[in-house]
Amino acid sequence: MSDSDTPQGDTAARPPVIRVRDLVVRYETPRGPAVTVLDGITFDVECGETLVIMGGSGCGKSTLLNCLIGEIQPAGGRIVYHLPELGEVDLCGANDVQRNDLRKQFGILFQSGALFSSLTVADNVALPLREHSHVDPTIIDIVVAMKLQQVHMLPHRDKFPSQLSGGQKKRAGLARATALDPQILYYDEPSAGLDPVTSTAIDELIMSLSGKLKVTSIVVTHEMDSAFRIADRMVMLDRGRVLRIGPRHEFETIRDAAPDSFETREEQLMHQFLNGNASGPLTESDGPNEYERILLESSTFAR
Ligand SMILES: Nc1ncnc2c1ncn2[C@@H]1O[C@H](COP(=O)(O)OP(=O)(O)O)[C@@H](O)[C@H]1O
Ligand SMILES: [Mg+2]
Repeated sequence: MSDSDTPQGDTAARPPVIRVRDLVVRYETPRGPAVTVLDGITFDVECGETLVIMGGSGCGKSTLLNCLIGEIQPAGGRIVYHLPELGEVDLCGANDVQRNDLRKQFGILFQSGALFSSLTVADNVALPLREHSHVDPTIIDIVVAMKLQQVHMLPHRDKFPSQLSGGQKKRAGLARATALDPQILYYDEPSAGLDPVTSTAIDELIMSLSGKLKVTSIVVTHEMDSAFRIADRMVMLDRGRVLRIGPRHEFETIRDAAPDSFETREEQLMHQFLNGNASGPLTESDGPNEYERILLESSTFAR
């Protein structure tokens, strides 16, 4: 990969922990041609940053995240990881051993928390340690207690997932995601379905873990309050493409500008999306088209 591959918006001197280049994903459909869901995605993820991936419902956020964790094999493009312990690994060309080694470096918080209902909170957190490490059981107990303490869940260690609130399930999921001391933490819609107070608490936990563990965090969300709270940089996807990538302040500038100060329809759309409202230049002029209407409706604020 040459230096000229570096996409706009990336300025850090250290090598990026992930380089995504020209990523293409297509889904087969039962009738008719395959649908292109990601259409030439290019961006870098810098070491230690929190990158928020946002965009309207159905724009490809979860698909992108699934590509990044190796769950979906793209039809084209490259995802190259650069981690101290593993060196450079091209995920799309990796063999099973390389892929498994790489995946041990990821912690993933799925939307539902994805806890095993038949296991206690402590056993859920211990599971990755039992499966992927050769650590002595007594040490596992200590590590589990530390991980639960980190997310303020130690008092709930013997409960089953059905006995937990939504926020507690997320925190337990987060303890499990950090069990193997990952280098990269992935979150898919971490505040979905939570009340505003709990959602803010989860955001604070994401930020504190990012600081304490010195991990790189990639967060998929369509919750604007949450995105602006936690992001160092933001990527806005638009129908399977990168509409804009940049530091949070650039997005704040667009969000906070006067609605009539934008020249392009794209900027107007971003302004409305980032403000999470359906009124603005688009709706006041000739009205949003079908795609824009769906995009604007899917932009939500927790407040
Ligand atoms: N397994 C699949 N097969 C076919 N189409 C899919 C599949 N998963 C997602 N899609 C479609 O791909 C598009 C992007 O989906 P997704 O990545 O889940 O979007 P987002 O997370 O931004 O809401 C949507 O139109 C969705 O219907
Ligand atoms: Mg999704």
